[in-house]
Amino acid sequence: MLEARPIQAAGTTIFIRESETDTSSDGSRTSTSRTGYTDTASGGFHSSLELLRPEALSDISAKVTARDPGRRDAGPALLLQDMVLNRDGTLEVRNPGSAVNDRFEGKVAIDPGTTDKALNDYGRQFLIALRAGTPVVLPRPAGPGLRHVNCDLLPCASLTYDDGPDAKTTPQLLEILKERNVQATFFMQGKNVATNPALAKQVADAGHAIGNHTYDHPHLTQLPLAGIKNQIDRANTAITSATGTTPSFMRPPYGDVNALVQSSVGMPLLLWSVDSLDWQSKNPGVFVPKVLKDIKPGAVILMHDIHPTTVAGQKELISSLQDRGYHLVTVPQLFQRTPLKSGQVYRSRPNRQ
Ligand code: NI
Repeated sequence: MLEARPIQAAGTTIFIRESETDTSSDGSRTSTSRTGYTDTASGGFHSSLELLRPEALSDISAKVTARDPGRRDAGPALLLQDMVLNRDGTLEVRNPGSAVNDRFEGKVAIDPGTTDKALNDYGRQFLIALRAGTPVVLPRPAGPGLRHVNCDLLPCASLTYDDGPDAKTTPQLLEILKERNVQATFFMQGKNVATNPALAKQVADAGHAIGNHTYDHPHLTQLPLAGIKNQIDRANTAITSATGTTPSFMRPPYGDVNALVQSSVGMPLLLWSVDSLDWQSKNPGVFVPKVLKDIKPGAVILMHDIHPTTVAGQKELISSLQDRGYHLVTVPQLFQRTPLKSGQVYRSRPNRQ
């Protein structure tokens, strides 16, 4: 029987012990255990040996075999396969084959001085986090937005929603997108993110992309350089502090662009190729047919999630687009393999030969 359970965690490191008990045909039982850790930031699973500098392995092994001479021939990988770093700086090595070797059952504690010299940078960081009681950073679930869709082969389009997030309408839209299995892009105003940081995080956590839509929606073409930069920076700060991710593209309010704006925003400018004019009609009976008339593969569709009427039309719009074979993807997915350049304006996915 194999059992795995977490035994220790701090920061991005979660330690796990796997125990396996085998009962042989004559009824005797052997158990082995091993420890390893997963790093929630990188996602990999590692043996505990990876906390130590390779040069230190023989020294630590020698301290274990000094207590357990019967296992002198076992290499570090076996001897040290169950190993835990304690908060007091000791390294606790368990005998992984205690049922096989009953002369030595238990643990060897390697003193903090020896342990300190043996730890590599990662091991030392983990010890610091353990001592400080750093809260565990849980892995971010890979959103369904990371699913692979090849937009070279399949018709793709991006739904984009501007000006939010809005405490009332954005959650309703998120529900619809989830139900229809769609990933979208939200161009958020920094001031609305600052008011609704948890909602912005909810959007990001659902796998949607977030773009910078300035702090409070001015005509950027009417601002001096410092004013433009200030609008972009404040929005980035609000979005980053709410979601943990800094936007890598922006949309100027009203699509208002000039040379100064292009050279000042410091990121690609994402406009649109299909304008729903949802804000004008405030009527799904008008904007849904308009989008369906103008849609082409590679399109970026402009809408606004702050209007209840826009949200009200989304089920019908999404169903109609999916019925026509469109894969609705985020802007980064739509432009995958087209490196977006800072200061350049984009309206739709470029055609490929
Ligand atoms: Ni806007």
